[in-house]
Amino acid sequence: MDSAERIDRDIETLAGPDYTVSDEAIRRYAYTDAYRRTLDYFVRELESLGFEVDEDAVGTLVARNRPRGEPVFGVGSHCDSNRNGGRYDGTMGVVTALEVCRLNAERGLDLPLQLISFLEEEGSGFGQMLLGSRIVAQRVTEDDLRERFRSIDDGRSFWEHAADAGHAPDRWRECAHILDDLTGWIEMHIEQARVLQDTGNRIGLVTAIAGYVHADVVVHGRGDHAGATPMDFRLDPTLVLAETAIELERLANEAGQGTVGTIGEIEIDPGLINAIASEVRFSLDIRGPVEDAYGGVARDIAAFAERAATARGMTADYRERQTIPPTPMDVRIVDALEAAARTTGEPYMRMHSGAAHDTMCVADRVPTAMVFVPCKDGISHHPDEDADPADAALAAEIILNAIQALA
Ligand code: HGY
Ligand code: MN
Ligand code: MN
Repeated sequence: MDSAERIDRDIETLAGPDYTVSDEAIRRYAYTDAYRRTLDYFVRELESLGFEVDEDAVGTLVARNRPRGEPVFGVGSHCDSNRNGGRYDGTMGVVTALEVCRLNAERGLDLPLQLISFLEEEGSGFGQMLLGSRIVAQRVTEDDLRERFRSIDDGRSFWEHAADAGHAPDRWRECAHILDDLTGWIEMHIEQARVLQDTGNRIGLVTAIAGYVHADVVVHGRGDHAGATPMDFRLDPTLVLAETAIELERLANEAGQGTVGTIGEIEIDPGLINAIASEVRFSLDIRGPVEDAYGGVARDIAAFAERAATARGMTADYRERQTIPPTPMDVRIVDALEAAARTTGEPYMRMHSGAAHDTMCVADRVPTAMVFVPCKDGISHHPDEDADPADAALAAEIILNAIQALA
């Protein structure tokens, strides 16, 4: 089998029913059997290459072909999925990193490598994106893990779920050590937009990753009868949601510089056709390559929601979930990737990433870069997500050659 065939086999296997908790989409997240089986697939493949495989204190997978303490080059991504996920987001990155490890062995290069598959990149288990890599980067607090971060499924804490799964969350600070020996890090990922496809490029060399603010707004209204309550007697929080959504679009467009704003989650209580909502919660995902621009939108939309609620006799609370700044990639590694891409003769381009990635947290301490491959029509965070294993095979070749040149 060649690289593209092996990558295709891995992706198709991990798209099977044993590796997802839903049959409508690829849905796998921390501490579920489907996720455990996905990790175990990589454990078997890496151990067959002679890698020593372990997990950090909360379940991030770490595999090395050198003893701890010796310098290694990092490759990897995440193999959890969005709750409405496709088979390529994250998983194709870990599979391509595995293929780099295979090629390294097959060709007798014996480059020192460490593969990492980060826990909970999507936040599908606890609503916290990049959770595993934020723990590695120590960008969380113990109180977050013990109390604030709660399971979407049952409301129990991250701490309880990690412990129930046999991990040691009390040792979460030790997770930082999985980066100790890294001389560099390259993550391969599908682009999740359509720039590469529309420009006819097979490879994207990421120069910077957009930063983001994740927050929630809760609007407190008054639940009343939908039929008996006259319009001028209402405290209807859905109207504040509607005004805020329109204002978010206006602010993001006004900010420009690649700023985007999205309301992706909406919860209406009680959510009945014949009852005026008593409370509405909605999420805010505001991102961009320029922190002043998207940070200003987050600040302004929070103030707008509070004013819009007050003007209607209600109150609104804005609560930030998390924020990560825009992250530049390491010039030396990007240049090594470009040199390797150029020798393939295949079309490539430099670009920034609008999507967030674990690489943002690795970049705190390790020189990092990312390689994108196209995904069909830019579709992602959707079961129709599609990408070409031959592009991933090309990426594996480029990554391996860049690591060799950087060694
Ligand atoms: O949403 C993101 O940026 C990533 O795909 N989790
Ligand atoms: Mn991803
Ligand atoms: Mn994703």
